[in-house]
Amino acid sequence: MQSVSTWRRSPLKAATKGRGVQPRCQRLHVRCNARTGCNLPTKQIGIIGSGSVGSAIASSLIHKNIVKNIYMNDINHEMCRGVVLDLEDEAFITGTHVHHTMAVNELRDCDIIIITAGAKQKPDEPRNNLIERNAIIMKNILVHLLPLKDTCIILLVSNPVDILTNIVQTWCEDFMDRSRIIGSGTYLDTQRLRVALSKELDVSVNSVHAYILGEHGDSQVFARSVSRIGGSPLTNFPEFTQQKLYDVEDEAKGKAYEIIKRIGATSHGIGECVASICESIILDKNEVMSVTSYHPKYQTCIGWPVVIGANGVSRVMPLDLQQDDEDRLLRSVEVIKEISADVVQNINLF
Ligand SMILES: NC(=O)c1ccc[n+]([C@@H]2O[C@H](COP(=O)([O-])OP(=O)(O)OC[C@H]3O[C@@H](n4cnc5c(N)ncnc54)[C@H](O)[C@@H]3O)[C@@H](O)[C@H]2O)c1
Repeated sequence: MQSVSTWRRSPLKAATKGRGVQPRCQRLHVRCNARTGCNLPTKQIGIIGSGSVGSAIASSLIHKNIVKNIYMNDINHEMCRGVVLDLEDEAFITGTHVHHTMAVNELRDCDIIIITAGAKQKPDEPRNNLIERNAIIMKNILVHLLPLKDTCIILLVSNPVDILTNIVQTWCEDFMDRSRIIGSGTYLDTQRLRVALSKELDVSVNSVHAYILGEHGDSQVFARSVSRIGGSPLTNFPEFTQQKLYDVEDEAKGKAYEIIKRIGATSHGIGECVASICESIILDKNEVMSVTSYHPKYQTCIGWPVVIGANGVSRVMPLDLQQDDEDRLLRSVEVIKEISADVVQNINLF
């Protein structure tokens, strides 16, 4: 991690001084503040829900040193205050400041709003059981939070994340572009899958390009037909028998249950995933990530690889799925569509 003092010694800034060229930050690849020449980050992130997941996301963001201010909010004010004091101790080495906000409408000027508020799974409980409780929580938050500035991106993490993203996109369709409302989706599941595949072959996880598609839940699909290791299809590896691939898929799907059974919540993995999504937005990196967004072919929000940058989702990646993967994905899509339609019918935003 770079220290603040390194930020201030940009060689490019010195080289371009006085020549009318706006310096480019060496680390973030974003424009520096031309007036002050300051290289420190400028973006503001609001996190609604400061429990295990919200505080882990804040912690990962602090270590990335890409945000000026993080505003934490929770209905449990005392707990939130404690979380902020603890995060403040963690942030002393970076340029990030952590604040406690009492009301969600104080977050309206944020560049990204992350929502982790809501009930979490009990051991062995499917994520979809949370829908009624968390849809009402989401409605109560949005009623006080809206309107947001035009450039703001909402990043949903609360479960069931695909259904909630779908519902929030529908509720907000008159005043926010779909591309700016995304869910963390199957990004975490995809990382879990990549780790499991990389361990089998003893190759770096960075060389594994494999995806979990569909629901961040029990119907999720390991898209075998489009997965590659170092550019080579999985069928080229004798280690990957049919049974092994089922085992790897089950390992990725069941990992959350294994963690929750032992420690009651998952936090570090999702914290890093959400901070990475924020990084791609803030630095306009245009990384391909399997987050939840609207897919025109399936006409709903699903976990699918898309390009993520400063304006949210800019491109839905084309994938040539084979029939078996496509059939399983269609079943996952149906699960998301059915539950979302039920909720939208029963709960209005205003
Ligand atoms: N998408 C993913 O990959 C992923 C991964 C892990 C957890 N999750 C989900 O994230 C959510 C949070 O999990 P957690 O472990 O942090 O739970 P947690 O119980 O530790 O924290 C949730 C927090 O939300 C707060 N809250 C409830 N209603 C609120 C409201 N109206 N406004 C503000 N705050 C409110 C609670 O007070 C609590 O502190 C759950 O729904 C969980 O299933 C998603």
